[in-house]
Amino acid sequence: MQKTIVKVICAIGRSGQLGLHGRLPWEGDKGPAYLADVARFFEITRGHVLVAGPRTIASVPQFASADRELFVLRSNMDPQETLRRFPGRVVFIGGGPPIWSAYARFVSHWDITRLDYDGPADRWFDPNWLLGSASRNEESRPSR
Ligand SMILES: NC(=O)c1ccc[n+]([C@@H]2O[C@H](COP(=O)([O-])OP(=O)(O)OC[C@H]3O[C@@H](n4cnc5c(N)ncnc54)[C@H](OP(=O)(O)O)[C@@H]3O)[C@@H](O)[C@H]2O)c1
Repeated sequence: MQKTIVKVICAIGRSGQLGLHGRLPWEGDKGPAYLADVARFFEITRGHVLVAGPRTIASVPQFASADRELFVLRSNMDPQETLRRFPGRVVFIGGGPPIWSAYARFVSHWDITRLDYDGPADRWFDPNWLLGSASRNEESRPSR
């Protein structure tokens, strides 16, 4: 079977802010860096598969265009089986945080833009995801 390439593209604030009240914390900011980040997201994911949690998908109506294949993840789905549905495709894991915790071990490319945002958030980036692990204390982390 053809390999599935698993990537993440996301944007964080200066301290790792990811989300606020179901939206991007900086939503509505029309500064050039924010607009460029959104445009870049749509450019890079074009033609590929985007899988994400229901709140993330609902928060961006433009996701639902013909430009990319959308797939909503639910917590009763097995990550490995889900990725097997897309042989030979590039699959972007779109978040939110519980999704990245579940899929981090499959990700080979992280594309993270750090924006100059220093305000509040209720969803945060966890650097342990970069090592394929949900938490430094997680007992199930594979030994290396
Ligand atoms: N800055 C960025 O780049 C970025 C990117 C993405 C999201 N965000 C932000 O993050 C927030 C949304 O994230 P969220 O986590 O609140 O909601 P979410 O995107 O809906 O993701 C969490 C939901 O995914 C489902 N899920 C699917 N597979 C799962 C698994 N293996 N383990 C656990 N849950 C799983 C669960 O829903 P069920 O229990 O219903 O199955 C869970 O409640 C928004 O504020 C959004 O703007 C920011």
